[in-house]
Amino acid sequence: MNASVKPHPVALSGSVLNVPKSATLAINEKSRQLQREGQDIIRLGLGQSPFPVPDIMVQELRSYASAKDYMAVQGYLPLREAIAGFIQRTEYLQRGADDVIIGPGSKELLFDLQMVLDCDLLLPAPSWVSYQPQSKLLGKPVHWLECRAEEGWKLSAETLQQHCEANPGRARLLILNSPNNPSGACFTEAELKALAAVAEAHKVIILSDEIYSELHFEGAHQSIARYYPQGTIVSNGISKWAGAGGWRLGFFIFPPELRAVLEMMVVVASETFTSVSAPIQMASIRAFEDSPEMLDYIHASRAIMRHIGEGFYQRLQAIDLQLARPDGGFYVLVDFAQYRDTLAKNGINSAPQLCVQMLEHSGVAALPGTDFGLQQGLLTRLALVDFDGSQLLHSVMTDTDDLSKHSQPTLERLFSAVDRLEHWLGTLD
Ligand SMILES: Cc1ncc(COP(=O)(O)O)c(C=O)c1O
Repeated sequence: MNASVKPHPVALSGSVLNVPKSATLAINEKSRQLQREGQDIIRLGLGQSPFPVPDIMVQELRSYASAKDYMAVQGYLPLREAIAGFIQRTEYLQRGADDVIIGPGSKELLFDLQMVLDCDLLLPAPSWVSYQPQSKLLGKPVHWLECRAEEGWKLSAETLQQHCEANPGRARLLILNSPNNPSGACFTEAELKALAAVAEAHKVIILSDEIYSELHFEGAHQSIARYYPQGTIVSNGISKWAGAGGWRLGFFIFPPELRAVLEMMVVVASETFTSVSAPIQMASIRAFEDSPEMLDYIHASRAIMRHIGEGFYQRLQAIDLQLARPDGGFYVLVDFAQYRDTLAKNGINSAPQLCVQMLEHSGVAALPGTDFGLQQGLLTRLALVDFDGSQLLHSVMTDTDDLSKHSQPTLERLFSAVDRLEHWLGTLD
């Protein structure tokens, strides 16, 4: 701040004071600063899609640029119909336009849901960075449920059951996220069924965050709503698998049994954001149609991310870093436990210290596991997205046969992050 500016006295509310600035943004600012100072940084901190918005959506947005009216608070009806069609097609769930609400990103809807529900929030550790701060902003209790590396960092039905039995009589919202940020893990059918049975028995409401659904590497994403339809709210949007984070459009789909919650969310929407911008809602219909253009785009992005995920899995393991094999999305969660003693000798005893030193000495930006609720250990999340997605997507869409050939020059820099880590770790003694 300019030194001559005298801050106006303000009283900030208690819940806001408890929430530090987002770690994702902080590491991003530090990376930019190092870049300005001339350092070459491989940015594996922020999880933004590397791919462009599909052409058919962009063209549609152009043609609707003059749409100027406020939209219905719950969302533009033809878009809600398209989304209901998408969930029927992909998850075999009988849902209609009345079950859908559109918001300015699923993140805002998540905040509104937590505001509307009077309940405890259950979060698997690890979980995406924003769930807990949202709860803190609202002054609501959060319970972390421990997940184990040996189980691919996935919440087990036993852990959920133990928590529910130890804390009887509570109303609860559990957030599940598959494909997962930060671990890249996806639940199997058996795991979903087991979790669904426990949730049903204890009347837990599940918010199933499926924002990476179409980026399951095998195209085999399943929603837990298939096995617990009456208690599951599905969350999704166009930010990740349609590359349109900056368009700010997400949605929730409710079961009829939770209609009262949806109605309260519409009240909140009407008094806060009103509606998502008209041209964006109109153009986004294309994302949910079963068109050859969308399918080609999704298949190519999936193939590229599978190639990268597998490549990192192999290469990181080869330098004694531990990680679960990713099944989908943009991320891997990497454990530096094998280097604990060497790192400790160099004053690195925690994941935040590890990330700062790694950024400064190897030029690789990543986020510490602590941001995802993992208080112990030397864990970092790598977002494998620092490459030219437009160029690669284009060549793969025109010739899917030889991904390694196309990707080699484009991904060389991204993969060199592993060489840099190896080199840096080798310099420590
Ligand atoms: C797991 C997860 N959920 C939700 C979001 C937010 O998505 P949106 O752009 O729809 O607000 C993100 C974005 O990083 C995410 O990683």
